[in-house]
Amino acid sequence: MKPTFHTLNIKDIKKETADSVSIAFDIPENLKGDYSFIPGQYLTLKADIKGEDVRRSYSISSALSEGELRVAIKQVENGKFSTYACHELQAGQSMDVMTPQGGFKVETNAANANNYVFYAAGSGITPVLSMVRTILETESNSNVFLYYGNKTAELTIFKSELDALASKYSNFTLRYILSKEESGDANTNGRIDAAKCAHFYSAEIEGNEIKGVYACGPESMIDTIKDFYTSKGLKDKVHFELFTTPVAAADETSTEADDSVEVNAEVTVIIDDEEYSFPLATSGKDVLSAAQDVDADVPFSCKGGVCCTCRAKVMEGKVKMSLNFALEEDEVADGFVLTCQSHPITEKVVISFDEY
Ligand code: FES
Repeated sequence: MKPTFHTLNIKDIKKETADSVSIAFDIPENLKGDYSFIPGQYLTLKADIKGEDVRRSYSISSALSEGELRVAIKQVENGKFSTYACHELQAGQSMDVMTPQGGFKVETNAANANNYVFYAAGSGITPVLSMVRTILETESNSNVFLYYGNKTAELTIFKSELDALASKYSNFTLRYILSKEESGDANTNGRIDAAKCAHFYSAEIEGNEIKGVYACGPESMIDTIKDFYTSKGLKDKVHFELFTTPVAAADETSTEADDSVEVNAEVTVIIDDEEYSFPLATSGKDVLSAAQDVDADVPFSCKGGVCCTCRAKVMEGKVKMSLNFALEEDEVADGFVLTCQSHPITEKVVISFDEY
């Protein structure tokens, strides 16, 4: 569905831990279809904070059965939006909320008998909780394994909900891994690293055919998990979502990997059937920023190649992406790009936000 902002009322705000809250929104009847979601997707929230348009994306924590739309927000040091959300927002206020987006998701079916493996760290639990809970409630013949890293038990977001799920469902294996609280077991102390992946894989997972491995957390954890499952021949099973903007540069993605290409392109951006054309050099601004300069109301959130909100399809010509932590290989093969990371490498480029 095309990303669209609507103004929604905040139904309630719950303090989840000392440094995190969750926010539920009221969805008017006429927008219920627009805000239906697949577990794992996220919402982009927009607020005017001291005169600045600030947008952040947060994963939906609710399960489908709960009939509500809730996101979790962890306070980050000097974080404009998270500080505002954790300390100033009140129930009853309204906020601009984009319709659910994101390709980190799992489709459930009561007839499935699958094995799902999840890894999460800190607030990376949010989309994972929605996925885990929906699978457990929908697929009684599937098995779910969750390895969840935090500093301490007290700072573990959604611990009581997860413990309740583990008591209720015998097909749910839940392991907490704490970096700043001694558990007396080396396998559950420290960070989620290669040794812990190997230990839990051979102790609990090996022998089961894996439907998917889903990881949400910092880049280092995701790299560890990708490397581990690649070594097991299961690279294609790994799906991931970063919850912070990466600091390391990723490989450039392009259909023509030639850094020496420098063109002065004519770029046309299509959104809501309107066309916006502008000149843009390969070494100039990214396509998203250049489109904003000509007043195209293009969707965005992180501007860091992480959230996927600025996804669009190249209809003509070619671009290269500086970073891509959000699109899957098949999406790139189908011509989709992150416009906040895209630069033209042919003289004519047409990009449409109207293709999904
Ligand atoms: S705005 Fe988040 S990936 Fe482009």
